[in-house]
Amino acid sequence: MSNVILKARSVHKTYTMGKAEVRVLRGASLEAQAGEFLVVTGASGSGKSTLLHILGGLDIPDQGAVEFEGHDVFAQSQMARNTYRNRQVGFVFQFYHLLPELNVLENILMPKLVSHSALSWLTGRGQAKLEAMDLLDRVGLRERAGHRPNELSGGERQRVALARALINRPALLLADEPTGNLDEKKGADILDLLSEFNEAGQTIVMVTHDARVAARAHRRIELVGGAIQSKRDGSPSVADSDSQPTHALS
Ligand SMILES: Nc1ncnc2c1ncn2[C@@H]1O[C@H](COP(=O)(O)OP(=O)(O)OP(=O)(O)O)[C@@H](O)[C@H]1O
Ligand SMILES: [Mg+2]
Repeated sequence: MSNVILKARSVHKTYTMGKAEVRVLRGASLEAQAGEFLVVTGASGSGKSTLLHILGGLDIPDQGAVEFEGHDVFAQSQMARNTYRNRQVGFVFQFYHLLPELNVLENILMPKLVSHSALSWLTGRGQAKLEAMDLLDRVGLRERAGHRPNELSGGERQRVALARALINRPALLLADEPTGNLDEKKGADILDLLSEFNEAGQTIVMVTHDARVAARAHRRIELVGGAIQSKRDGSPSVADSDSQPTHALS
């Protein structure tokens, strides 16, 4: 019955800074169902971004596995992992990460350019532009296509970043504090958009430290001590059951 699209199994990650080791993830496990809007909460510095980067193939775990549609992301070739990162996953960052020298339309088209060969880009760019303009419509910014990011408000930049994350129709949207840098109204607009895309079938995993933002999700889980705990009445969920033994190592 369940349709698991993404699974993390006992993910460990330690950063080394000089002689100091920061053990960030210590057996974090989770599952996301296709079509789900899953939110991961956790205190600042608890490792939310680290976990999200690993889920999206942007960073590599020291131990543990990430499975997307049943395939182990880090056991695949570098090329397959690049394809996962560029085609299956869309990423929204807290600070937008738009390219300042490109206009809105060009920013949105960037993932298309990166993930296609020169030839398929040349033959498909007309269609790609139509798709980008359609996404701009959906985020309410069609008339701003020719503007540079520095001519937009924070909320508008984040809407552009959302459109960019969705241009390759990713199966999975990962959002790292997408409202963290916005005032309440603009943050609410972004959440409304995320909910709309989710209702249309988009699977979303979002991290946030904001309880009000988290309340919009189907399901909430929390990152504590480098492992996942269920938010519902404190009982462990199926998804985090294998995080328990690794806790004993800490
Ligand atoms: N590249 C890195 N090198 C060294 N330490 C790092 C690196 N990236 C993250 N850390 C450390 O790992 C810990 C977790 O960082 P992370 O950014 O994942 O936390 P977070 O939960 O996203 O925090 P925030 O809510 O503030 O965004 C922090 O102590 C941070 O200093
Ligand atoms: Mg973070």
